[in-house]
Amino acid sequence: PLMTTTQMLLDAQKNGYAVGAFNVENMEMVMAVMEAAEELHSPVIMQTTPSTVNYAGLDYFLANVRTAAERASVPIAMHLDHGNSFELAMQALRAGYTSIMIDGSHESFEENIRLTKSVADACAPSGVPVEAELGKVGGKEDDLDGGAGGYTEPSEALEFADKTGITSLAVAIGTAHGVYKGEPKLDLLRLSEIRKVVSVPLVLHGTSGVPDETVTECVSRGICKVNYATDLRIAFTSGVTSVLKEKPNTIDPKKYNAAGKEMVKEYVKSKIKVVKSEGKA
Ligand code: 13P
Ligand code: ZN
Ligand code: NA
Repeated sequence: PLMTTTQMLLDAQKNGYAVGAFNVENMEMVMAVMEAAEELHSPVIMQTTPSTVNYAGLDYFLANVRTAAERASVPIAMHLDHGNSFELAMQALRAGYTSIMIDGSHESFEENIRLTKSVADACAPSGVPVEAELGKVGGKEDDLDGGAGGYTEPSEALEFADKTGITSLAVAIGTAHGVYKGEPKLDLLRLSEIRKVVSVPLVLHGTSGVPDETVTECVSRGICKVNYATDLRIAFTSGVTSVLKEKPNTIDPKKYNAAGKEMVKEYVKSKIKVVKSEGKA
């Protein structure tokens, strides 16, 4: 069924695992994520960025995820990823998204607090959880270039969480959106320091390309939600491409989309194991 991320993330925090959050961009990706979670008895989060929302509308993606969630026995949440304005956050809330991120990390500390608190206050009455980001995750998260990263300061994270009333916090500890050029170097000690002072569940962004052992280590240090986007695009496209390469005359979209879907499903299943949520639903 469709639910919020509140209980999902608190359960994860309490029991030392994380919930995978996978960016979906079409119906087949939604089906793939749902089937992977269902087969591994895992809770799962599906999410869309503003550019994905612009492509088809909040309602189209929510309808797909709602249908998947109704068919599933495991908990599924629909999350707005990197919400970039108060208005979009409110549109997602009204549409029926069950979890919302407001990303004010490009603003000053004070303005990030103001924007984040306004969204958290507006979502609180309906019990919809709000994720925010402090510090800068590097790379290109959407159509927006995040630029070089400034890491999250533990003392600021505490003040930020207290003043905004957020229910989860995305941390900048060296990950970047997109494909990494070299091996990413994560500041794991910083993560532990943040976890010591901040009580809300922590979120890892930019996880495509981070070695699985490193992700698992982050989970053991307090990460409760792990975001994957770029690798799902790559998986879907490679499935489609392989069919069209082998049989260039294929004209039935179901044929190549099914191959894309299978690739995404296998990928998501492998990451559900990495974040240790298998069997938690
Ligand atoms: P990647 O594209 O690097 O997996 O990052 C995903 C993400 O953080 C979505 O918010
Ligand atoms: Zn992100
Ligand atoms: Na990445």
